[in-house]
Amino acid sequence: MLSRTVQDAMNEQIMNEFHASFQYLSMAAYFESANLPGFSRWMRVQSQEEMEHALKFYDFVLDRGGNVVLGPMDGPAVEFGSPLEVFEEALAHERRVTAQINSLYSLAAGENDYASQTFLQWFVTEQVEEEKNTGDVLETLRMIGGGSEALFLLDRELGNRTDGDQPEAG
Ligand code: FEO
Repeated sequence: MLSRTVQDAMNEQIMNEFHASFQYLSMAAYFESANLPGFSRWMRVQSQEEMEHALKFYDFVLDRGGNVVLGPMDGPAVEFGSPLEVFEEALAHERRVTAQINSLYSLAAGENDYASQTFLQWFVTEQVEEEKNTGDVLETLRMIGGGSEALFLLDRELGNRTDGDQPEAG
């Protein structure tokens, strides 16, 4: 049985992950409008992954006999200045998620909730990947600068991303 404190924190994380999913879907729409379909696909896959993260928490709360309480959610950002700006925001977002997961882990550890700690271990590892993949694309965008040919090639490469498959950027 989940403690009330851990349950509430996990419900909050469900909403954080849903919000991330919406945020990345909004970024996907921006890239589609900017005629960068590969970037758009990458973000769409990312959005799907965030939905899966939300559902992992959702299932875990229910499996532990807790109550899932879905709350209101702020809308995602809808205006972006450039691909670089989008990935800067995406990396900042992933770093915030890492902090949220670490804080949840500390909470579970403080309550000697071993099952939650084991569950959260997957997310601790996942966040290393999430930050790396987003950071790699950001670094490549910084190297490209204003080069439209390199941007076109990166777009083609990012368009190869399939669910659970994150090609190296660059
Ligand atoms: Fe669910 Fe990108 O962290």
